[in-house]
Amino acid sequence: MITEKLTDDIAGIKRTAEILKNGGIAAIPTETVYGLAASAFNDGAIAKIFAAKGRPQDNPLIVHIAEFNDLNELVAEIPQKAKELAERFWPGPLTIVFKKSKQIAKNVSAGLDTVAVRMPSNAVARAVIKESGLPLAAPSANLSGSPSPTSAEHVISDLDGKIDAVIISGDSDVGVESTVVSLSTTPPRLLRPGFVTAEQLKEILPDLVIDKAVTEQLKVGEKAESPGMMYKHYSPKTEVYLVEADSQAFCRFVNRKKNSVAVCFREDMEKIEIPVLCLGSSQSGEEQAKNLFTLLRECDNLKANAVYVRAPEKKGVGLAVYNRLIRAAGFKIIKPKTVIGLTGPSGAGKSSLRGIAEQMGYGFINCDAVARKATEEKDCKKELRDAFGEDVFDENGNLIRSALAKKAFISKEKTELLNRTIFPFINRLIEKEIEKSGNNKIILDAPTLYESGADRHCDGIIVITAKEEERLKRILCRDGITEADALLRLRAGKSDDFYKEKTEHIIYNNGSFTELAEKFKDKLCLLGGN
Ligand code: TXA
Ligand code: MG
Repeated sequence: MITEKLTDDIAGIKRTAEILKNGGIAAIPTETVYGLAASAFNDGAIAKIFAAKGRPQDNPLIVHIAEFNDLNELVAEIPQKAKELAERFWPGPLTIVFKKSKQIAKNVSAGLDTVAVRMPSNAVARAVIKESGLPLAAPSANLSGSPSPTSAEHVISDLDGKIDAVIISGDSDVGVESTVVSLSTTPPRLLRPGFVTAEQLKEILPDLVIDKAVTEQLKVGEKAESPGMMYKHYSPKTEVYLVEADSQAFCRFVNRKKNSVAVCFREDMEKIEIPVLCLGSSQSGEEQAKNLFTLLRECDNLKANAVYVRAPEKKGVGLAVYNRLIRAAGFKIIKPKTVIGLTGPSGAGKSSLRGIAEQMGYGFINCDAVARKATEEKDCKKELRDAFGEDVFDENGNLIRSALAKKAFISKEKTELLNRTIFPFINRLIEKEIEKSGNNKIILDAPTLYESGADRHCDGIIVITAKEEERLKRILCRDGITEADALLRLRAGKSDDFYKEKTEHIIYNNGSFTELAEKFKDKLCLLGGN
């Protein structure tokens, strides 16, 4: 089939009306997105829409009218609240679900006893409806599952050769599909958020409830009031992930992702170091809505492995953007954790800060404990045995830590051998512990944070250090080892210069605990963002 490319003037409108009256299907502009129209009274024409889009048969269509009176032949009754909604929002991006009349083609409503109706404000759409003299069923004019079309080019890229005609007109003003509200349920229900916001609807429908499917994935067996909300939808070919994080955490998160695209807000742009697309201002749901679908289509041109999108706020028009994005992401939502590394030479007092960190809402991972756990793993024990011999284990096969310490801290080479052996095991466990933690913010307390490569888990790193004699005192009373062993351990550690090269966040713990705690809190606020 050759798809006719029509103009958005009288000639194009007349030709479109003729095609529709003859049972054809044609894409038309609306203020929300382009729609693929057919007569709502002609089930053969409606069937062509389902076929061209590859749309699941159980997903009903919206019927478009030009005048309020056109409603009469479509619905069984017109509730008072519908009149009030129409008065305020029609023509415009609001769809109302009614009990349906018998005239509606069966497949328009996909077997439901209701029908969704809207009166578009786009002048070309209204002219086509009037010229054809028909109510027009019209889903978005995209292939089912792909981003909705906000320009004639999008329609052509998805449906050229599959539909009778497309009117080439300007880009859609709104950019996301209409708000769908059902008056056929009590209380009334918001089924799909859009440009007309939940907050605005509540002024007329104070008892409006927001359907669970708007912001959540329904479980197997749960039925969506609006069948279209069940599906993965709006997706580019590239895998999309929705990231719920503030600006700082989002940027840190995506900057670690290789071969990916970030989709963010204008205010995030300059902090992002990977290929990036901008949704608009984080404060303007309207701007985000307008850019959303074009941007999702653009992602595929960038040939990345994944797209990470910063989630908008779920209010106003932002709720509509969020609703489309969780579907584009197939409900894959990431809440990145903030991980702050805490390190420094042995005995400097960093572990005493655990209580302070926990008071500030941080989870605390003690990497010494993780290391101990790692050395209990079978594979790790085997490698330790190969490196340090049988006599670092007791007769039950348990590691004798003091025996290992003696052997490992005797020389630089031996210390390095120990590190090479156990660090990979420790890092794998650290990753698991971070994932497992119920906290969104975590302190990673690791004496050998840099040496082990565990610094790669961290968004920021704080070093605690102190004078050598202070540290020796602390080690002796804390660990119950001999002074000779304690000195060995101190000398195996790194100098202050080593840390100075790595981070500017160094705290000297040569005074009181209160002083240390205050400095630590300041650093956490700076690095952890609260
Ligand atoms: O802005 C829009 O509404 C665009 C333009 C073209 O008007 N149309 C549009 O249609 O978005 P479509 O088919 O892509 O989405 C229709 C949505 C689906 O989620 C569908 O399940 C829901 O409306 N829907 C249609 N009839 C319904 C009904 N009787 N009850 C509940 N939900 C219904
Ligand atoms: Mg659609």
